[in-house]
Amino acid sequence: MSDLTSFFAPKSVSVVGASKTPGKIGNAIVRNIIDSGYKGIIYPINPRESEIEGMACFSNINNVPGEVDMAIISVPAAHVLAAAKDCGQKGVKAIIVITAGFKEIGKEGLDIEKKLIEICGKFGMRLLGPNCVGIMDTYNPINASFAGMFPKKGEMALISQSGAMLLAIMDWSSSVGLGYSKVVSLGNKADLSEIDFIEDAANDPYTKVILCYLEDIVDGPRFLEVTRRATKKKPIIILKSGVSEAGAKAASSHTGALAGSDLAYDTAFEQCGIIRARTMTELFDLAIAFSKSEIPAGDRIGIVTNSGGPGIIATDNIELKGLTMARFDKSTIEELRSNLPKEAGIYNPVDVLGDAKPERYEFALNKLLDDPNVDSILVLMCPTAVTQPLEISKIVVNARDTHPGKPIFAAYTGGQLLARGANLLSEAGIPCYTFPEPAIDSIRGLNIYSKYRSSLKIQEARDTFEVDKRTVKAVFYDVLKDHRLTLLGSESAEVAKAYGIPTAPIVMTSTAEEAAEVADKMGYPVVLKVASPKIIHKSDVGGVKVGINSSEEVKKSFMEIMERVSYCLPKVIIHGIEVQKMMPNGTELIIGMTRDVQFGPLIAFGLGGIYVNLLKDVSFRLASNLTDEKKIEELLAETKAYTLLKGYRGEAPRDISAVVDVIKRAAKLVTDFPEITEMDINPVFAYDEGLSALDIKITIS
Ligand code: COA
Repeated sequence: MSDLTSFFAPKSVSVVGASKTPGKIGNAIVRNIIDSGYKGIIYPINPRESEIEGMACFSNINNVPGEVDMAIISVPAAHVLAAAKDCGQKGVKAIIVITAGFKEIGKEGLDIEKKLIEICGKFGMRLLGPNCVGIMDTYNPINASFAGMFPKKGEMALISQSGAMLLAIMDWSSSVGLGYSKVVSLGNKADLSEIDFIEDAANDPYTKVILCYLEDIVDGPRFLEVTRRATKKKPIIILKSGVSEAGAKAASSHTGALAGSDLAYDTAFEQCGIIRARTMTELFDLAIAFSKSEIPAGDRIGIVTNSGGPGIIATDNIELKGLTMARFDKSTIEELRSNLPKEAGIYNPVDVLGDAKPERYEFALNKLLDDPNVDSILVLMCPTAVTQPLEISKIVVNARDTHPGKPIFAAYTGGQLLARGANLLSEAGIPCYTFPEPAIDSIRGLNIYSKYRSSLKIQEARDTFEVDKRTVKAVFYDVLKDHRLTLLGSESAEVAKAYGIPTAPIVMTSTAEEAAEVADKMGYPVVLKVASPKIIHKSDVGGVKVGINSSEEVKKSFMEIMERVSYCLPKVIIHGIEVQKMMPNGTELIIGMTRDVQFGPLIAFGLGGIYVNLLKDVSFRLASNLTDEKKIEELLAETKAYTLLKGYRGEAPRDISAVVDVIKRAAKLVTDFPEITEMDINPVFAYDEGLSALDIKITIS
């Protein structure tokens, strides 16, 4: 873990490029450090000045009499390397480079950035930036940035790759009364990245929620490792923009094409329990919910409303988002029936009607809070002439205070007429939105996190199966020696078998006689397939014959395939013809793998066969997450294929445990061999008992 103490709690700081001139960045940084209430020593550095903001100014950091823990460099790009070197010689432990004009401007800037990294490495200095706004800590107060504001103390850490986004989020936060524990502008991430600061925030006692704006992730495996640990302690919400091209690039397999470009991020975030915000609005809404609210125990929501429309909208949205409309206890319904007007809605949503006075809200709210079938409550309000928003808000706050453990959310749909009531809720720490949808999205975010936390408690099953790595290595060695990257069918089958994946027997032959002999031994019917890694669609060139029932037919088909393929593709090298046992029909599945550059292998599962790209019934998981049967079954359950496997319209159910087992083995294979770049097992025939992998394509690097 990176030690960031010198950034967040330096005993002394130096501003290299400090300026006397108000309105210049070098002046703003000095002023910000002073104004934040920083308790350590400040050393401004400027060769032209002897005093800045009442403090002694030095011409070079090496002239400073005491030690310097952290330096903020804000000189033009041409002077940054020299300034960093000076800092290194002085023994500075941490530098923040505010200056722009590095990697972000292209090759020339990248070269300077590399030199900056070298200097930091040489002197053992940690670097934040370059091209950043700086850093803030509100508890051990320091504002080492040129931001126009210093937030109030709060329980959120904000980590942003974009300086502009950081400033925008902070300004918005102050307008809605949200505070921060730490704020970090990452800039170009030449050294320290989001991973270091997420790890730090996860261990920070003042931080309850971690909020990030990211454009990319520098080190996928470390990101997964750190965030998995972090989300065990506190929620992480990330708005990730910028679509990774990695997944989409040159995918030659079905799995690669189906994965799409941003899927690895989605999958990785989900598996680490990270809440992904899709828009800035959603990031803000989630920030409000996570910072203010408790996490509901479950997903059953009770609604109290004074109007039908928003109640219906909220109900639809709850179902759409996969949450549950609470079904009240009989006693709750009875009490509501006896005490509310007969026109009121007593089931969920509880409609206390347009003329509802605070007492009616209070009664309904308390009944729902006492109901064991309700996990959280959404209070809806529209402004009628007799609505008393302020009084109702006071009641809502009181109800929350007297019912800990059951969070309340509100959507006050209106404007001026409801503003004071809405403000009262926000100030009291009850998330209050203008419309029901963001309120529900926020409850959903809290629920995703809560479910993730519960799932951690489930013991992970460990690998218990034996695999034969040596055979796989030997096959890959032969393939590379043959100057190929794509395995032949028989080679792929050997690899699969080495990992215990049941395959249809397949043997490579080079003459018609040999093929007939192999088929005789194998038993009929058989299939003949031309073996050439260059031919992707074998049937199109007459390279496949199915349902062959005798040795005579084998010989004849062998010659026909050879002739036809040589005629259609005269230049393509043919390695021979593979004889494969023709397996009885089963439910056709696909199990595949595509490799994401950031997060590693992604396993796909779904309906297989020739219509796989048309049907797109495929779900994905990172292979690293598929060691446990329960998680594999969750992957299965996301597909329509699962409905077929369970036995659709009177058909016998298929062997689901065999499918789970094969996915586990495939995940291990691609994890053990990073040289496998793509893999498609399509189709896999699933039977009542067991399964068989028919066609396996493996590409290596
Ligand atoms: N050591 C110490 N001080 C030095 C110095 C050195 N080697 N070289 C110059 N200085 C002083 C200058 O004399 C000046 O002080 P002054 O105001 O008293 O004259 C001060 O450092 C700044 O230098 P100046 O040449 O005036 O630059 P600037 O203030 O116009 O711009 C940056 C400097 C860093 C702000 C600018 O280069 C930059 O990168 N701006 C963009 C910042 C940004 O957007 N970052 C990313 C945010 S997301």
